[in-house]
Amino acid sequence: MNSMSNTHSALAAQLDFFDNQHPPKSDFMHDVLTGFALPTKSVPPKYFYDQAGSALFDQITEVPEYYVTRTELALLDRIAPLLAQRAGPGAVVVEPGSGSSLKIRKLLDALHDPAGYVGLDISENHLIAACADLADDYPDLNIGAICADFTAGLHLDHLPLPDGRRVIFFPGSTIGNFEPEAARDVLRAFREGMRPGDAVLIGADRVKEPEMLVAAYDDSMGVTAAFNLNLLTHINTAMGADIDVSNFKHIALWNAERERIEMHLEAQSDTAFTIAGQSFSMTAGERLHTENSHKFTPESFDKLASDAGFDRIQTWSDGADLFSLHWLEPSA
Ligand code: SAH
Ligand code: AVI
Repeated sequence: MNSMSNTHSALAAQLDFFDNQHPPKSDFMHDVLTGFALPTKSVPPKYFYDQAGSALFDQITEVPEYYVTRTELALLDRIAPLLAQRAGPGAVVVEPGSGSSLKIRKLLDALHDPAGYVGLDISENHLIAACADLADDYPDLNIGAICADFTAGLHLDHLPLPDGRRVIFFPGSTIGNFEPEAARDVLRAFREGMRPGDAVLIGADRVKEPEMLVAAYDDSMGVTAAFNLNLLTHINTAMGADIDVSNFKHIALWNAERERIEMHLEAQSDTAFTIAGQSFSMTAGERLHTENSHKFTPESFDKLASDAGFDRIQTWSDGADLFSLHWLEPSA
């Protein structure tokens, strides 16, 4: 298959295929207009990731307080040979929410003769650049890039994937950005396309002291604040809105009952703006809820996995139990 778009045809030599299932801009507008009309305003966190948002996320992964990426990378380093054993030779790795496709390198370096890699992300330009870099560094690997919303499932059937066991690699605790029922549905949607023998390798951040969690989402250099505020800039740019970004403040808080970090943007004074021609207002102190990042206990993760129709085959954690990687297989 070659559904390479004209815009990206220059990448033909580097990427085996580029499949553009990018959700239409009207979805973004619809979700924003709906979210701003709710009693508690909210916008789904997938809209953080325009090109600037993806770059800011990469910066977050390097701030000292954001232990998540460093911890998972070190864990991957340590267990890569065990993962290679589990995956077996000739595996095809599919990564929903692949971002900069950095963690996959740890896995690819350990796997026995991997047959292919597919990065799937909503952030189109960032995805293509990341997969093109990977193709440069792994010239013998069959690499594909799919620009799509993974909440709609992975739809791999029409792609020219090599044969071989498929491993869905879902690191970063991206699953934590969904409320429990939505998280279950995301994993169920992944399960839909899986064949016997396929597996999911998923990263899940763990419940820990609130101080450490809040610091990770409110770093002292203000990178996470810039990431959060960029959502408003993305809305302004994409739909001709006139939100005064400078009037909003980044908030990160631990919701103990729901075991999640919440990010909000708080209006600092009464404000009015239009989005796609519709008028909205916010009073001083009113918040726009922009992200949840659920943290897991062994029990809450097991519930999620089994509700989604998976058996948890093995779990690995770092020495301080900050973060876990789980190997899941569809239940019989
Ligand atoms: N896997 C990387 C990146 C995590 S950041 C890591 O572990 O470091 C989350 C990534 O998921 C971003 O690149 C974002 O663009 C992507 N993403 C978020 N929601 C998505 C969705 N619904 N569909 C596709 N990609 C999504
Ligand atoms: C992508 N996701 C798992 C990140 C997280 O930790 O929830 C996004 C993020 N938001 C703020 N910092 C990082």
